[in-house]
Amino acid sequence: MMNSLVILVSGRGSNLQALIDARLPVRAITIISNRPGAPALDVAKRNGLETRVIDQRSYPDRKAFDAALMETVSAYAPDLVVLAGFMHLLEENFVQCYAGRLMNVHPSLLPAFPGLHPHRRALLEGVKIHGCTVHFVTPRMDHGPIIVQAAVAVMPDDTEDSLAVRVLREEHRIYPQAVRWFMEGRLRLSDNHVSVTHAVPDDTALYSPGFCK
Ligand code: GRF
Repeated sequence: MMNSLVILVSGRGSNLQALIDARLPVRAITIISNRPGAPALDVAKRNGLETRVIDQRSYPDRKAFDAALMETVSAYAPDLVVLAGFMHLLEENFVQCYAGRLMNVHPSLLPAFPGLHPHRRALLEGVKIHGCTVHFVTPRMDHGPIIVQAAVAVMPDDTEDSLAVRVLREEHRIYPQAVRWFMEGRLRLSDNHVSVTHAVPDDTALYSPGFCK
């Protein structure tokens, strides 16, 4: 069983809830927020998890904040650091330190639509298939070796909100799955490519690699 998982949050916390619901095999989970009022902190507390706040506004710049964050995170000696709606671009030092054990979920089929408002931009571009991606983190925003993606069809009457709801449902499915694969030692990272050992392809073609229960 893995010892320590650190989850970084800034906002609502629905992915955090999905990760908690997955009952992952880990001894300790710590939630760290860069925003004191983040609803995700309440999600954590309701579930009896330890929370820490490192208020980004009280640091003069990104470097100082990242240094404080790194110090706090490293105190937990995490096997894996998971970004769940963490609205801050981590600087290179942090990313290098946790290379290959730092994950993010983004609500688009990367490399399309990194950054803000991916659903709005997907609708503006008229894409027919949209979705979400779990990936290892690099210093570039919403970029890095892709672990798993799930797609949803875009409907003619979709709005930003309706699309977001369907994509979020998939995020809640694939993020715990990716973390579980990591914990089971099933992710292989080489040359920017991730493979999942023993993944079985299934017949929902809009999901890759295969979803194993
Ligand atoms: C999710 O859509 C995630 O993909 C993106 O930010 C959103 C966070 O939502 N990075 P929540 O806080 O997990 O509800």
